[in-house]
Amino acid sequence: MKKAALITGASSGIGAAIAIEFSKNGYFVYLMGRNKERLQNVALKCRSGASIVSCDLSDEAALNKRLGEVIGAKIHRVECVVNNAGVFETHSTEEGSDEIWRRQFEINMLGPLRIARAFFPYFKEQGGGSIVNIASTLGLRPEGPTSAYAASKAALINWTQSLAQEGGPYKIRANCVCPGIVDTPLHSFHDLPAEKKNEVTDKMKSLQPLGRIGQPEDIAKAAYFLGSDQSAWITGAILPVDGGINL
Ligand SMILES: NC(=O)c1ccc[n+]([C@@H]2O[C@H](COP(=O)([O-])OP(=O)(O)OC[C@H]3O[C@@H](n4cnc5c(N)ncnc54)[C@H](OP(=O)(O)O)[C@@H]3O)[C@@H](O)[C@H]2O)c1
Repeated sequence: MKKAALITGASSGIGAAIAIEFSKNGYFVYLMGRNKERLQNVALKCRSGASIVSCDLSDEAALNKRLGEVIGAKIHRVECVVNNAGVFETHSTEEGSDEIWRRQFEINMLGPLRIARAFFPYFKEQGGGSIVNIASTLGLRPEGPTSAYAASKAALINWTQSLAQEGGPYKIRANCVCPGIVDTPLHSFHDLPAEKKNEVTDKMKSLQPLGRIGQPEDIAKAAYFLGSDQSAWITGAILPVDGGINL
């Protein structure tokens, strides 16, 4: 059976780059997201084969149904799941409604939890598997008016280590990548005209010892390393990939 990886939030930014990286390395990829057209565009760039799994992570029943289809198909050997989908909203604690907190925890934390729960029995049966969670440097050190987002990513980081402990006896590894500032549609500067965008990103460059913001491929390489056998003896690792911004 061909090896495969499932990547959430594969329709855009970091998730699209992760899917392409796994594909370059011979994995069939299951691309998860809501926007079918964008998922199709990413699928065209995945030369080792791809299947689109269109689903809203906040719809638990639909998510479980779609995961059941992937797991039940038994066409590929899913060796890795990358929980990458995420939402980012800025607000102060005083202004952030329950709804804002709920939305971010639903996608950033409960989504990965539901996916891991579905894959654990499958990984146990096949004798192992790998889970990579995409958190954020804000989950390690909060900054600015991003408290719900930062707290949801801190939860994801902490839970990755619980997962690593629970999965160890079954050869299920769980690791976490914490991106710094990466140029994707998550940021309002992403689609600015070049001159304006440079103005904004130039200010950010000075915050990072390595002198540039990240590109989706920077994160994709780290996610592939932690997701694949290249890191066979690593579990519970929390890897910042951030140009040194937190130093
Ligand atoms: N960019 C950064 O600077 C940065 C920094 C630190 C951490 N991160 C993390 O990196 C991950 C990827 O972010 P990105 O920068 O690549 O952002 P992005 O370009 O906005 O992509 C976000 C992805 O999440 C998916 N998504 C959002 N809500 C969803 C839902 N309800 N159901 C299913 N999928 C959903 C989107 O797919 P659809 O729209 O198709 O549903 C999209 O593919 C996120 O977890 C983010 O928190 C990013």
